[in-house]
Amino acid sequence: MEFIITDTYEDMSRVAADVIAEQITTKPASVLGLATGSTPEGLYAQLVADHKAGRLDFSQVISYNLDEYRGLSHDDVQSYHYFMNKHLFSGVNIDIQNTHVPDGSNPDSEDACNQYEQMIAQAGGIDLQLLGLGHNGHIGFNEPADIFPKTTNCVALTQSTIEANSRLFDSIDDVPREAYTMGIGTIMAARKILVVANGQGKAEIVKRAFFGEVSPQVPASILQFHPNVVVVVDKQAASLCMA
Ligand code: F6R
Repeated sequence: MEFIITDTYEDMSRVAADVIAEQITTKPASVLGLATGSTPEGLYAQLVADHKAGRLDFSQVISYNLDEYRGLSHDDVQSYHYFMNKHLFSGVNIDIQNTHVPDGSNPDSEDACNQYEQMIAQAGGIDLQLLGLGHNGHIGFNEPADIFPKTTNCVALTQSTIEANSRLFDSIDDVPREAYTMGIGTIMAARKILVVANGQGKAEIVKRAFFGEVSPQVPASILQFHPNVVVVVDKQAASLCMA
């Protein structure tokens, strides 16, 4: 595992954006696994800036997002599909037909999850998977559990995730209670993984995930077993790892 500590959030975003830019430059038809959340907003802004400056071409890129709330359609402003359009897709020359997010509007969870898993396999798997880190160690919406879920699945969000995500909704009652998410097996099958985390609030989980025991109670800890992981964190998020 490569563990990079940066001074600021902006530096974290730049370093992480460079990992993605290198991937796309080396393989223009890369299959990217993408994440939503506050952490990657800065790196998406960097990628958009790189594209607008003529340094980065997304025309052949294919993307699969990690997760989507169950029950939200693509055009719902709270959907992850909407988030991706706003923060990345609308700012670069990616072919929107090549972007994929689990279909939150499909009420048949088995069908939605199986279809998504098949689409990723048909695309040849993921070249580079971007991940944020939940305060409880979740990746995608794979919450602490007794086992590592293998494939794309439907999960009930934990109370702590509902509370964390309620900042983006008018009221906590509006936060969907379920989501479709790539499984841990889907994520671990990616050829390369890039994790970003920032701020003091992530310090404890960064330490547990990357330097603690590997356990499904800390889903991100499984990444210690992946052969090609780059973790980029700012110094606050790394503060408990530097003792
Ligand atoms: C988002 C996702 C989540 C977030 C995590 C951290 O697609 O799958 O696992 O990466 O909840 O979120 P932020 O970045 O908002 O702290």
